[in-house]
Amino acid sequence: AIHLEGRHFLKELDFTAEEFRGLIDLAARLKAAKRAGAEVRLLRGKNIALIFEKSSTRTRCAFEVAAADQGASTTYIDPSGSHIGSKESAKDTARVLGRMFDAIEFRGDAQATVEELAQYAGVPVYNGLTDDWHPTQMLADVLTMTEHTDKPLQEIAYAYLGDARLNMGNSYLVTGALLGMDVRIVAPRAYWPAPAVVDRARALAEVSGARITLTEEIAEGVPGADFVATDVWVSMGEPKEVWDERIADLGPYSVTMDVLRATGNPDVRFLHCLPAFHDLGTSVARGIHDRHGLTELEVTDEVFESPHSVVFDEAENRMHTIKAVLVATLAPVGSPADPADR
Ligand code: CP
Ligand code: NVA
Repeated sequence: AIHLEGRHFLKELDFTAEEFRGLIDLAARLKAAKRAGAEVRLLRGKNIALIFEKSSTRTRCAFEVAAADQGASTTYIDPSGSHIGSKESAKDTARVLGRMFDAIEFRGDAQATVEELAQYAGVPVYNGLTDDWHPTQMLADVLTMTEHTDKPLQEIAYAYLGDARLNMGNSYLVTGALLGMDVRIVAPRAYWPAPAVVDRARALAEVSGARITLTEEIAEGVPGADFVATDVWVSMGEPKEVWDERIADLGPYSVTMDVLRATGNPDVRFLHCLPAFHDLGTSVARGIHDRHGLTELEVTDEVFESPHSVVFDEAENRMHTIKAVLVATLAPVGSPADPADR
């Protein structure tokens, strides 16, 4: 059983490797319990605030469904739905919401904002994505990896291709380093994680036994990978003008069938946190098509729709893993957070 009562989740490194693995195990048990119709509600009477300064489909819905399944209620605060950041500081907002809610989720630009909320709220605060980290996403990715290979975590290799300077690149690098995995960042040097993040990952690797590779060469980065992952080339909050340079710089790192073949692994699986540019199904994609003549960006439709792709398992797992975070941090002390204990 894992108990993390009262703890924040602001970045992956808030937890030890053992705690992180404990959350994955708890999520797997909660998933099985829900499927068996045997879920026990441990969060009755809890109230959770969900602050979103940016759009979300998965993260918002995962928190809402996870809370509802466990008997808790949520209040969704959209980007214009509160005074935070305009008329009221994060510090004051934290002290107000902390008086009413048992926990607060925050999605926005600055990691400093979620850290400030955590400092003053007096209740657990969860990072639902900032420019720097996407820690709840990494729980879902690791759970998905464990479901699609029989290997123990320390034998799993994954390659992340594309823009690795922001949340997803940083999170993939430190999570694999923490858990002792074989992590390859494959991108032009200018798109690698910041030196401080790389140094942190290398220091973690010395303890965990992780193997860390940063390379510009697909031929060096992907052979032997069990999983290939990517993310959108322009993140939320970046100006749309950067699409031109991103397409030019990152085009060669698009995840194609050739990239999957270069792993040499016929069972390689494809991961993407989503949303993804792989067809003309969105207005933004149609705009890019009109300007650049492209319908597929960070991943081809062929890969996205192939049996290699496990992106919807990954999306579903956002809910089970966020539920694990809620149960582990909010279930009353002494309650069996692990359904297997009951
Ligand atoms: N992957 C992810 O965080 O998706 P949303 O932006 O839809 O929450
Ligand atoms: N890097 C992307 C991830 C979205 C889930 C962004 O920040 O928009």
